[in-house]
Amino acid sequence: MGTRNRLGIGLLGLGTVGSGVARILPAKGEALFGHLGASLAIRRVLVRDPAKPRSVPIDRACLTTNPADVLDDPEIDIVVEVIGGEDPALGFLQRAIANGKHVVTANKEVLAKHGPELLRAAAERGVAVKYEASVGGGIPIIAVFQHDLSANEISQIRAIINGTTNYILTKMAGEGSEFSGALAEAQALGYAEADPADDVDGHDAVYKLAILASLAFHAEIRPHHIFREGIRRLSARDFEYAANLGYAIKLLAIARRADGGVEARVHPTLIPRDRLLAKVDGVFNGVEVDGDLVGRLMLYGRGAGAEPTTSAVVADVVDVVQHLVRGVSPASAEPPRQPLPVVPMDLVSSRYYLRLIVADRPGVLAQIAREFGNHTISIASVIQVAANADTGTAELVVMTHRASESAMQKTVAAIARLPVVPTVASFLRVED
Ligand code: NAP
Ligand code: HSE
Repeated sequence: MGTRNRLGIGLLGLGTVGSGVARILPAKGEALFGHLGASLAIRRVLVRDPAKPRSVPIDRACLTTNPADVLDDPEIDIVVEVIGGEDPALGFLQRAIANGKHVVTANKEVLAKHGPELLRAAAERGVAVKYEASVGGGIPIIAVFQHDLSANEISQIRAIINGTTNYILTKMAGEGSEFSGALAEAQALGYAEADPADDVDGHDAVYKLAILASLAFHAEIRPHHIFREGIRRLSARDFEYAANLGYAIKLLAIARRADGGVEARVHPTLIPRDRLLAKVDGVFNGVEVDGDLVGRLMLYGRGAGAEPTTSAVVADVVDVVQHLVRGVSPASAEPPRQPLPVVPMDLVSSRYYLRLIVADRPGVLAQIAREFGNHTISIASVIQVAANADTGTAELVVMTHRASESAMQKTVAAIARLPVVPTVASFLRVED
């Protein structure tokens, strides 16, 4: 392969992340590429609405609504995809690869659903697919798994990998903020996905966990294999009880080796407050990794927002350029991925937190305790507070010892059928 010094970039998308990239590449171009003897120019930018006001100074003549202007331009060497979503982004990436262009993307949905196929197509075409920005915003994490941890056998990942939900949960826990107000703030700060349901219902964290777990376990773990529960059902009461019990509540993404496969799940989780993960607040993300050689490692940083994400995107561009100017292929060479079964959620075990609204009269606790006993689940503690004289109800919080998910689900269903339990208010997993 010959050396290349004058390189063309095609940008797909000029929103939160695309604007960051369009600002930083020219501003830092000389510092980033001058010593390599390389120059880089953004040749075309694909947008949906070329008339829209832009937060970044951009030559309007670069803007186009025709994907071919980017994907089929022979002067474009690197395509940066920051549109998001599956369609049309997947087709754009496939076409860029087929046309021999190196690809940098922040698109966790496409990577999680179609990563193995894209990587294979890129390897066949001899081009790179770089995706550092797809997980953890500005935290270097993909390269860490690809290079720095490659000598390790990874046993477990526990991670807070959605900035929007972590921002919302932090506001709800610390300031008693309402869910919708905190979400609106996260949107205004550019953290949320185009459809914020992707964040609050846990899809975004599932995509990211699929990417990380696939890298960590050299496996093909797809989003539909991963158990998912979002944060909509959490209430201020849960944060109060959790704090009194010594826990924080976080949307945790967990992947760990288990008998014959891997556990992979995303759900709101009680974490002891003295754990590092419990202290990851606001838009910050934290990824805890256990490897056989390195032991426990914690990566921490801003998980969303224009500048942290631009940091990751631009780093990938720099990596591709460094290879090209040396005449070395930047094509990725990841180890082959094996199918690895994901353990069904029913077989996973955990401790649990259950909050119930119950009739405030004698014998109720005994009925509830009997249901736990019937399913051989051991109760660790019970709190009963906040009796409501008007409704004749009390609130009961039960913490269990470790139990299987299927036993706990059956217990919760049986408790919900008791006439003395009008409401099963919350049911959360606990990670020690
Ligand atoms: P965004 O602000 O919604 O920007 C999307 C951009 O893509 C807009 O410029 C839009 O054009 C353009 N676009 C959308 N659909 C298009 C289509 N069909 N044809 C042409 N252009 C289209 O999104 P973002 O927050 O920058 O996120 C972009 C990607 O980065 C997503 O994959 C996201 O998950 C990922 N990411 C985001 C963050 C973050 O903090 N925001 C962090 C890490 C990763 P118009 O401007 O004309 O509407
Ligand atoms: N919406 C995502 C988040 C953006 O809040 O984490 C970063 O991937």
